[in-house]
Amino acid sequence: MSFDRSIKIAPSILAADFANFGAECEAIEAQGADWVHVDVMDGHFVPNITFGPATCAAIRPHIKGVMDVHLMIAPVDPYIDAFAQAGADVITAHVEAGPHIHRTLQAIRGAGAKAGVALNPGTPASAVSELIDKVDLICVMTVNPGFGGQKFIDMSEKISALRRMIGDRPVHIEIDGGVDPSTAPLVAKAGADVLVAGSAVFRGGSVSDPAPYGDNIRAIRAAASGTYV
Ligand code: DX5
Ligand code: ZN
Repeated sequence: MSFDRSIKIAPSILAADFANFGAECEAIEAQGADWVHVDVMDGHFVPNITFGPATCAAIRPHIKGVMDVHLMIAPVDPYIDAFAQAGADVITAHVEAGPHIHRTLQAIRGAGAKAGVALNPGTPASAVSELIDKVDLICVMTVNPGFGGQKFIDMSEKISALRRMIGDRPVHIEIDGGVDPSTAPLVAKAGADVLVAGSAVFRGGSVSDPAPYGDNIRAIRAAASGTYV
């Protein structure tokens, strides 16, 4: 997984057909997805439950590129090895998920994955100032985590502050929640390079009719790159 700061679109399979994850992952990659974003929720850190490491392991063979696992769980540490063994390339934990995020990030890298840290909308950029050399990705939540399809919350100032903090370091800024062609330009301009999108990618398509996924991915990428389609 080499580093680059070009715009990457990461569809969230939270908006996919849960009975068809393998085919959905193959369809979005064939339609131009750069990364596949996998939302793990525990019904405790967030008010919703999705799936765990066994499902990640099952979908891994259906993903050629980056499997980007977003853990909305607490505690995190007991499960890191299981997600790494499931084949996660990036494992992201929330700074709000426990008192020892530094230890969590060390454990993620120790397990052989890239380490991500996520910030809820109410958490300031300064919460990661001591972690900047310990992470490969900072995920800025632009909704309160737990559900797809929520309204985008503008976090442009936080994104800009993080972009300045990162400087030349090889650290991605990922945006998660409410990203669509109307909000993508704001976050890209502020310095984001990985755009997660669930409903805005999967709307209108299906595994048997995946062309709309491609149209949706291209529309978000074009909007983020300033060339509207
Ligand atoms: C929210 C999840 C997001 C979500 C994005 O808790 O972390 O990844 O699926 O979905 P949309 O793009 O529909 O806001
Ligand atoms: Zn997510």
